[in-house]
Amino acid sequence: MLSSRYKPWHVPLFMTKYAWLRMRRRPVLLNLEVTMRCNASCGFCDYWKTPKSAKADELKEFSDIARRFNPMMITFTGGEPTLRRDLEDIVASVREATHLSYLAMITHGAMLTVDRAKSLWDAGLDQFNISLDYLDGRHDDARGIPGLTAKILDTVPRIKAAGIGSVRFNTVIKDDNLDQLMPLVETAARLGAGVNFSVYTDAKNGNQSHLLREEQQRALSAAIESLLAYKRAHRGVITNSDHYLSEIPRWVRGGMTEPCPSGTTTVHVDPYGKVRRCPDFPPDVDWKQWSPYQPIACDDCFYACRGEAQAPMRWSRVLDVMARPTPPS
Ligand SMILES: C[S@@+](CC[C@H](N)C(=O)[O-])C[C@H]1O[C@@H](n2cnc3c(N)ncnc32)[C@H](O)[C@@H]1O
Ligand code: SF4
Ligand code: SF4
Repeated sequence: MLSSRYKPWHVPLFMTKYAWLRMRRRPVLLNLEVTMRCNASCGFCDYWKTPKSAKADELKEFSDIARRFNPMMITFTGGEPTLRRDLEDIVASVREATHLSYLAMITHGAMLTVDRAKSLWDAGLDQFNISLDYLDGRHDDARGIPGLTAKILDTVPRIKAAGIGSVRFNTVIKDDNLDQLMPLVETAARLGAGVNFSVYTDAKNGNQSHLLREEQQRALSAAIESLLAYKRAHRGVITNSDHYLSEIPRWVRGGMTEPCPSGTTTVHVDPYGKVRRCPDFPPDVDWKQWSPYQPIACDDCFYACRGEAQAPMRWSRVLDVMARPTPPS
């Protein structure tokens, strides 16, 4: 599902760039962690404990990094990226520095007003990914932000009405939200948005309380089957590959023995310019000294960025990218 800024004829261009990057063993997705600061208080991620003083060391410019990697997709993330008042300048300079790079942002959404979304869109952002793990008060509690779910559900249709072409929910599949997966998809479809699923890991801060458990295998497999069936009937809402979704139960069972390709197709750069292979590994070198990563023996997570890197390029993937969700009525 591409943003409305792009036409179907852009798809072969993006696919050519993808093939070119893979042939040269270069990352396809660059995650720019523009700040590690955050004003939520999640129990499953400790970024919000980053001291406010870290702001002084954050890079002002990310365009040289974007130019160096020149990937197909760049995601502004964090910490909470909307805390940066200069995010529009960062986005605009990255836009200017790259060609045929799709720009997205992951946000908790609490500070995302229609005006802010519009100014980021005008600066060149193509897609807004808003984290949403439940449709009820559990999401507010999990993030420590009262009223967050209502705020997101109120803002998304207004952002879409303002002409912003691509909004997705980023939903982490956990022990206690299997009942929410299909309702989240149906809500996204109603709002003209998409959903991108990922899987909970304790690799972020050691919190095991939301890990999917062995005895949930049957319920998990049933939930995944429902998502795949929905995808077959309505392409363009769920944006994960079929392969990623169908591999989730195997990861939960502990059956994934292949090395993790993190750092090969996706790479992270922290707010201070250090590169790391994935969000949960420590920073390695300054971006200027980066050299390609090799796959590693690690099975600590099944983030979409790991699982999609393991997914073969199939025709269904192309259909996923080209499909557009039904516009909201
Ligand atoms: C680290 S956050 C940064 C962006 C923003 N602060 C947010 O929460 O959307 C990026 C994504 O990681 C997800 N995430 C955080 N902790 C996680 C965990 N323990 N396991 C899986 N995903 C996690 C969040 O839900 C979010 O979609
Ligand atoms: S998941 Fe996002 S909102 Fe929650 S603490 Fe981490 S960075 Fe902040
Ligand atoms: S499995 Fe891969 S992406 Fe996940 S924590 Fe390990 S190295 Fe990082």
